[in-house]
Amino acid sequence: TSNDAAATTPRNTSSSKAPKDGTQTSNGLSEKPLKRQKPESSPQAPRSSHGASQPSQPSNKTSRHRQHSDRGQSLPPHLLRKRDELLPVRKALPIWPQASAIKAALKKNNILVLTGETGSGKSTQVPQFLMNEPWCTKCIAITQPRRVAAISLARRVAEEMGSFMGSQSPVAKVGYSVRFDNATGPNTKVKFLTEGMLLQEMLRDPIMSQYSAVVVDEVHERSVNVDLILGFLRNLVSGVETGGKSTRTHPLRVIVMSATADVESLVTFFEDGQTSSKQEQGAKNPIAQKGGAQTQEGGAMQVKPGRISTCFVEGRQYPVKTVYLPQPTQDWVESALKIIFQIHYKEPLPGDILVFLTGQDTIEGLEKLVNDYAEGMDKDVPKLLALPLFAALPQHAQQRIFQSTPFRTRKVILATNIAETSVTVPGVRFVVDCGKSKIKQFRNRLGLESLLVKPISKSAAIQRKGRAGREAPGQCYRLYTEDGYNTMEERTIPEILRCDLSQSILTMKARGVDDVLNFPFLDRPPREAMEKALLQLLHLQALTDTGTISDQGLKIAKFPLTPTLGRVLVEAAKPERDCLLDAIDIISALSVENVFLNLVTEERKEEAEEARRELYRREGDHLTLLVTVQRYAEERTDRKVWCEKHFVSHRAMQNVMNIRKQLQQQCMQLKLLSKDDTQSDSAPSEARSQAILECMLRGFIHNTARMMPDGSYKTLIGNQTVAIHPSSVLFGRKVEAIVFNEFLFTGKAWARGVSAVQLDWVSEVVEAIM
Ligand code: CDP
Repeated sequence: TSNDAAATTPRNTSSSKAPKDGTQTSNGLSEKPLKRQKPESSPQAPRSSHGASQPSQPSNKTSRHRQHSDRGQSLPPHLLRKRDELLPVRKALPIWPQASAIKAALKKNNILVLTGETGSGKSTQVPQFLMNEPWCTKCIAITQPRRVAAISLARRVAEEMGSFMGSQSPVAKVGYSVRFDNATGPNTKVKFLTEGMLLQEMLRDPIMSQYSAVVVDEVHERSVNVDLILGFLRNLVSGVETGGKSTRTHPLRVIVMSATADVESLVTFFEDGQTSSKQEQGAKNPIAQKGGAQTQEGGAMQVKPGRISTCFVEGRQYPVKTVYLPQPTQDWVESALKIIFQIHYKEPLPGDILVFLTGQDTIEGLEKLVNDYAEGMDKDVPKLLALPLFAALPQHAQQRIFQSTPFRTRKVILATNIAETSVTVPGVRFVVDCGKSKIKQFRNRLGLESLLVKPISKSAAIQRKGRAGREAPGQCYRLYTEDGYNTMEERTIPEILRCDLSQSILTMKARGVDDVLNFPFLDRPPREAMEKALLQLLHLQALTDTGTISDQGLKIAKFPLTPTLGRVLVEAAKPERDCLLDAIDIISALSVENVFLNLVTEERKEEAEEARRELYRREGDHLTLLVTVQRYAEERTDRKVWCEKHFVSHRAMQNVMNIRKQLQQQCMQLKLLSKDDTQSDSAPSEARSQAILECMLRGFIHNTARMMPDGSYKTLIGNQTVAIHPSSVLFGRKVEAIVFNEFLFTGKAWARGVSAVQLDWVSEVVEAIM
């Protein structure tokens, strides 16, 4: 089990950015810094600070157990055993002594900004501290930027509470909700969910009536969704109404958590919301202000809405030695491989290795290399277990990184930046950092978004390094030079400043925010980017000419997909197109990283070409994907063998099938599909192929290019030259026009996921939208 939290007194080297005292943290707030407050009770037996009768901590084992038994629902012994086993681990977390202070803060004010190092216990403990507070009569939401974190945290918290997860049982208190997977039940009290899912819920229920508290976690990652959530929450807590719905009867508690000490900007953000709202103009010192002290739920003093507390949890970090490459390298997969084996041969166990790579392709490449080399190791050398970790990996495979290592085995976790702050991987003493990550980048001028491999920032490099020093002194191998490090940007640019804003703006419009240009953003995106997004939504016919959301736009906003893909589905559902199931299959396949295995040698590539020929369609990659999904789905004997035979990733296909099922269900809920609709089991006819591609065009008109007299392709909107990517079945062919899934920039601009279309189909779409 992971018991890093039970480590003996480590050295505290917490960052100099951390607020040193309360006066620094809070823009003139007179609130005492919570970290300096003496806990009202010992960590072993924390008392409830409000004096209510309910037990505030699970440490009160007997009363908690009685609580369940009273309802005739006692917990099975194995859950109780696990819960008791984890209790001392929880008590040793840096956040534990702050429980009372955190509860007291939220009794007084309804906004709390909580900062603390990754691993200090914020995500797992805060909901447990709060769930029995008298004001907490409903559910607590905790948002995560990634699904893997939401799921693994829910599992962990369920274990710590001795609870079931997501079932109908009255003692199933913990659940999660992520895109295409919902594990919540009627009694879920603590719900981990991805930011995207919370945004979807906010559309259905603008005042968030099912929640007593929303914990916005991992704010330092500054995903575009977190910025939207913060904007909506600021409007909600400061009384600026959105959606035209009535206000809540009880103020929502908002807890904003971050691993870096960016307290000031967050406090200012919420304070500005307060001063810009009609109430409490000019409140300079909110804590000191006396609000109407009346009783509310639970008999406690009334919380002051829109008031902010701050809290800082000091983490623990052991020293980590940094080793740089003497010379820069282009081939960091090779360098990573060398270092992994160097560590493995030189360093004693225990001590797992965490390698930061850029994406699924590099991870799978290195995984194979590590396994190949490990096979050749002498018998007396401990084993090496390579475990991939990336967002598109199926859940059960992701969970393997949390399981304890077999005897005499060293884990090598090959991860994307998912493991930077979002997921705490136990047992790691060595970090290998390639210094790069894949990021979304929107090019305003061209109006395109693409995934680019870019150098990480210093703050990301520091986070990565920190992962090696969680349980003991560690080592970090940077696959770049010290000069390389010195030239990195200080901080990662928030996603909202560099991504396509169309989905965000559609979400705002669907939530009733008409004036998106004046939405409260933590960092305001460039006006040009917002205008581009508005234009794109207009082209998707998600907005009307006057800028209000159309019926179609409302439907699109309800899908957990980009507006482009949502638009394709909505189009495919129209009776004259009648190809929704096919569109779902294609979109499911486009939603995972790589359906076809990436092959390294020329020989294997040729073999794969031959084997896949029966799947290839001359119309291009979309229909090829469709045929692949359909054949896989029809395969009844052994799908794994089928995948091997066709050089298709079984892992990816399992994901595709899951997404397909969820999208079908969602289309049924939206009444776009009925239960009786069945998939045809033959490859689509020419007419249906045309219908499918015309639907793709409706969504992807910005990714449509026509052939120029010199044989190159230029996009219709933006006039960007693109070439068909070598991975496409259309590579090397000349067609009059193409529609494609994404841009890829490696040296030049490539179109990936390409289909051939006719110019007159394109003209029809252009005429309809221009
Ligand atoms: O949120 P923060 O990064 O401050 O910490 P956390 O996610 O609450 O993690 C606290 C501790 O719980 C970590 O040190 C992990 O050892 C443990 N944990 C775990 O074992 N499995 C998880 N899925 C999540 C956390």
